[in-house]
Amino acid sequence: MTQAAQIQPSTPVLSINNIEVVYDDVIQVLRGVSIEVPKGKIVTLLGPNGAGKSTTLKAISGLLKTENGDVTRGDISFMGQQIDKKNADEIVRSGVFQVMEGRRIVEDMTVIENLKLGAYTRSDNQINQDIEMVFSYFPRLKERTGLAGYLSGGEQQMLAIGRALMARPKMICLDEPSMGLSPLLVKEVFGIIDKINKEQGITMLLVEQNANYALKAADYGYIMESGKIVLDGTSEQLLSNEDVKEFYLGGGNDKRKSFKNLKSYKRRKRWL
Ligand SMILES: Nc1ncnc2c1ncn2[C@@H]1O[C@H](COP(=O)(O)OP(=O)(O)O)[C@@H](O)[C@H]1O
Ligand SMILES: [Mg+2]
Repeated sequence: MTQAAQIQPSTPVLSINNIEVVYDDVIQVLRGVSIEVPKGKIVTLLGPNGAGKSTTLKAISGLLKTENGDVTRGDISFMGQQIDKKNADEIVRSGVFQVMEGRRIVEDMTVIENLKLGAYTRSDNQINQDIEMVFSYFPRLKERTGLAGYLSGGEQQMLAIGRALMARPKMICLDEPSMGLSPLLVKEVFGIIDKINKEQGITMLLVEQNANYALKAADYGYIMESGKIVLDGTSEQLLSNEDVKEFYLGGGNDKRKSFKNLKSYKRRKRWL
């Protein structure tokens, strides 16, 4: 609370300043990446497969260390405190929770057991109340009493987001929540993300390849390619940008069309 009170409303809650990330001491993946996420907003980080989006999220959440990755330059601060030297546990305690790519729920536990896992850093007695709060966003999870491994892909993604809520985070980082979901479910999940942001005031950093939905939900977006930010702007600016339209919004139904021909994508883009 005191930290929150100290920072000005315009101060970003998360600030990534010119970071470099290297794996195995030699493989440089991020080059001079700077991203700001204002308090209470949804910011999206877009880009093709392999661009470095997940690496950016792991740098924030302290999970790089488990993959022999390291922030070798720059720094990351959350609510005015430098976090890039902290371990993953301390970062969760400071209020940042990451929902990893591919959902990562515990398949041989029930929904409620998975939700309780999300609350592992808490010592208060409001866990059951928060489980009900999660069910109010995801009513269908309440009906699923078996093991989480039997949930559909969409339900597992909902459970992963619900588990993040159980940590009572100030900020949630979501890694490709739309992955593997039908368009209808993507719409539903993004609608709930938006609702959680508005009702709970939780700041969100949303990593996506699905630019269309992400930009509709987000206030601001960054586009990353080959480890660098190549474009950023408000969602309105990006949605009306000709290059974004052509390469990321795809025009037709196939949203990933633009990523298939990387050569022409690199040659033709106009923002560099
Ligand atoms: N643990 C790792 N060790 C070495 N290289 C990695 C590791 N994780 C990711 N990379 C490499 O870093 C680049 C960016 O990967 P990633 O951050 O997963 O991209 P994205 O999430 O945008 O698809 C890729 O070239 C990938 O091969
Ligand atoms: Mg990724």
